[in-house]
Amino acid sequence: MNKLRFTLLTKHLIIFLAIAFSSLSALAEAADNNARRILIVYFSQPEEVKLDGVDGVSGASILQKNSVVMGSTQYVAQIIQKETGGDLFRIETVKPYPRQHDPLLKYAERELKDGVRPVLKAKIQNLADYDQIFIGYPIWWYKMPMVMYSFFEQHDFSGKTLIPFTTHGGSRFSDSLREIKRLQPNAQLLMQGLAISRDDVTDDDTPKEIIDWLNTLPNMP
Ligand SMILES: Cc1cc2nc3c(=O)[nH]c(=O)nc-3n(C[C@H](O)[C@H](O)[C@H](O)COP(=O)(O)O)c2cc1C
Repeated sequence: MNKLRFTLLTKHLIIFLAIAFSSLSALAEAADNNARRILIVYFSQPEEVKLDGVDGVSGASILQKNSVVMGSTQYVAQIIQKETGGDLFRIETVKPYPRQHDPLLKYAERELKDGVRPVLKAKIQNLADYDQIFIGYPIWWYKMPMVMYSFFEQHDFSGKTLIPFTTHGGSRFSDSLREIKRLQPNAQLLMQGLAISRDDVTDDDTPKEIIDWLNTLPNMP
């Protein structure tokens, strides 16, 4: 092999390796971005009730799984987080909600009647990092809790995909999807949201139902 051919071959090899390396790192970066670009936002209000050793209490939003007490929507949010590898953000209010069922019912009814916008403890600071956002909440008095109105009015989801999920006592999404569309007209709201009855949340096959639903969604990892 003469010297010129050898130099040319070496050059080609270097170019080939450089292209291969940059493609691999682009792929790795894309996979990493994909994992980071999913956010699961939820509001959930666990209630204080006597559990009497029962796993999940009908009529109250409390679950006891492996001694962890959490709200129904929180439970669903955590499964979605585990399956998608996304980040989790819990919506919380500065003023805590009552934890007993009847006071909570009355408090929520008053909030709704007065059109209150509860003050949020924190806003999402790094919204630009995400383009697929799961958004979960319970249904209160046939609506989203008023804190969800505070939340949607203080964030701009333009250009993002919103994937709704709810837990409820029979109302499913009620009017909440229409309301989200009204509050976030420039977001793409997926209408194939997941609505799980509070009575079914603790069922053994609920995690599978959630995973099956996730598999129907576009652009999931
Ligand atoms: C204040 C309040 C109002 C509720 N109103 C409704 C309703 O109108 N329709 C419905 O289907 N469920 C209603 N529920 C039941 C909740 O939607 C259900 O228990 C839900 O799973 C609670 O979720 P969480 O544990 O994540 O807070 C209400 C519950 C509370 C506490």
